[in-house]
Amino acid sequence: MAMPTSHLLAEHYQRSLRADEVLARIYSHYPDGPKLHQLAPLDQLHIGGISASARLLNLLDVAEHSLVLDIGSGLGGLMRQGSALGFHMVGLDITHRFNILNKALSEIAVHQNGAAQRWVTGNAGALPFAANSFDAVLFQHSLMNMPDPAQVIAECHRVLRPGGKLVMHEVISGGQSANLRFPVPWADTPEHSHLLDIAMLLQLLKEGGLQLLHCEDWTSTALEWRQRQGQKEQATAKAVLSPQWVFGERFVEMSNNLLENLSNDAINVVEISACC
Ligand SMILES: C[S@@+](CC[C@H](N)C(=O)[O-])C[C@H]1O[C@@H](n2cnc3c(N)ncnc32)[C@H](O)[C@@H]1O
Repeated sequence: MAMPTSHLLAEHYQRSLRADEVLARIYSHYPDGPKLHQLAPLDQLHIGGISASARLLNLLDVAEHSLVLDIGSGLGGLMRQGSALGFHMVGLDITHRFNILNKALSEIAVHQNGAAQRWVTGNAGALPFAANSFDAVLFQHSLMNMPDPAQVIAECHRVLRPGGKLVMHEVISGGQSANLRFPVPWADTPEHSHLLDIAMLLQLLKEGGLQLLHCEDWTSTALEWRQRQGQKEQATAKAVLSPQWVFGERFVEMSNNLLENLSNDAINVVEISACC
């Protein structure tokens, strides 16, 4: 029997993951617990790293958005940063082994009175939550993996309370998307890559009942960050943590392609906020 596409996607993310080894390495290098910036090369699986997550969280207000759903939470860098700022964070991810490692990382990370976190394995297309249950919903490099974004946006609208906020930091297709090179970190082949262009994304939000508050093209900053990061990765072959603990040797080609795709306008990066 053929495997459902969702299982194949989870396989893409978890098949090279060395969770036990990575935890052992963290214990040995950071016996008092890793700080969030020390985990960042592992748990911020998006362009822009920890500072991009700080920017995203800055679009929320802890007094107004106390309960936040991170859709496609991965290894949880954004969740731990949000929790440290006082947001109650729920992480939803389809890749179960990511959720297990995410939780384990939160248990050992150095946290100063972080707000509660919860981890749920599930599909963004059928959110396992009641209507009106969140103050905010976040996407960070995850909508791009989802084959039915209209259904996902409808689900966000359902679980957001009236006046709730949706915030995104996403990869979208650029003007030269026909030249997109694979593999990239979110997909080995076009099968799992579902990039929208900016017009389609804004239209989907509108049709989903969300009112646009802010939309910023972040591509040039993303390109500069990826160039700097590539240099760092080459200079620090023995870094304590890196995306290679997740993607294995595949990451070398993935990161080269990411840089090419950004440079050639095959992909763009945007930051968006909208409200119900
Ligand atoms: C590129 S990773 C980004 C992870 C994290 N947001 C970050 O920025 O570090 C994309 C994540 O989205 C998750 N994902 C993709 N499609 C999903 C879906 N339909 N429902 C829930 N999670 C999904 C993947 O399992 C993966 O963890």
